[in-house]
Amino acid sequence: MDIKGSVAFVTGANRGLGRAFVEGLIESGAARIYAAARVKETLDDVIRKHGERIIPVTLDITDSAAVYSAAEKAADVNLLVNNAGVACFEGFTTAGSLEAAHTEMNINYFGSLEMIRAFAPVLKDNGGGTIIQIASIASMVTFPVIGSYCASKAALNALIYGARAELAAQGTVVSGVYPGVVDTEMSARFDAPGVPPESIVSVTLEAVIKGEEDIYPDAMSQDLYRKAHQQPKILERELSGMLPVASAAVS
Ligand SMILES: NC(=O)c1ccc[n+]([C@@H]2O[C@H](COP(=O)([O-])OP(=O)(O)OC[C@H]3O[C@@H](n4cnc5c(N)ncnc54)[C@H](OP(=O)(O)O)[C@@H]3O)[C@@H](O)[C@H]2O)c1
Repeated sequence: MDIKGSVAFVTGANRGLGRAFVEGLIESGAARIYAAARVKETLDDVIRKHGERIIPVTLDITDSAAVYSAAEKAADVNLLVNNAGVACFEGFTTAGSLEAAHTEMNINYFGSLEMIRAFAPVLKDNGGGTIIQIASIASMVTFPVIGSYCASKAALNALIYGARAELAAQGTVVSGVYPGVVDTEMSARFDAPGVPPESIVSVTLEAVIKGEEDIYPDAMSQDLYRKAHQQPKILERELSGMLPVASAAVS
């Protein structure tokens, strides 16, 4: 995939990793970027900085009608950065209700799925293109402290494999990205140092240019991937001490 001259659509573009993708894509020569955020005003800064190369889009990825309308308007896209996501920091049995688990599944899995379904025909019309799907090493490893988030990211990983198979015939490359801890608002409550989002973006874009499908963009990600495949029980026991705090039950 040639990033230079590409037309990208980035979800969650207002902050964190999504915002870093916008900057990285601009630096790499993307022609235009549809920058999507739930609250349009949160894109003011990026529009001020990059002017006409940014096309702001108001989009909640759980709003199916809005997702399809965005895909219709962004008919020239050949690179989808499916980045938006949420972590509620709840366990399975300690959560007060299923609310967090539903929220995470709705955004991280169903929202990403809707985006891929809506944009697949657009990518096809533009020669195949690439989907960068931001997953997490938590797609492959369960941290009990964020158990329900891990479940939603594991579902997302199944989507990555399935979409890759289904879209291969139309020439769309589906690249899954599996970061460890990244230094954004999301990880502020996670008890481990994160890498800068800019570093994840530069490793990812270099890999995407080479057509790589499975991207482990930092040391924690690579280490946990190796352990998950070579020593799964040892890793499971290591992580079993990272327990969630019980939330108040919702009646
Ligand atoms: N930080 C980490 O350690 C880490 C590690 C591995 C993977 N990831 C993944 O990286 C991606 C980006 O996360 P981040 O670290 O940049 O977190 P972040 O700073 O919390 O940003 C999350 C972004 O997603 C957007 N978003 C949330 N729900 C949305 C929805 N329903 N519709 C549209 N946008 C929505 C947020 O918009 P608002 O501003 O409107 O809330 C925000 O722009 C996520 O998929 C996350 O799971 C993060």
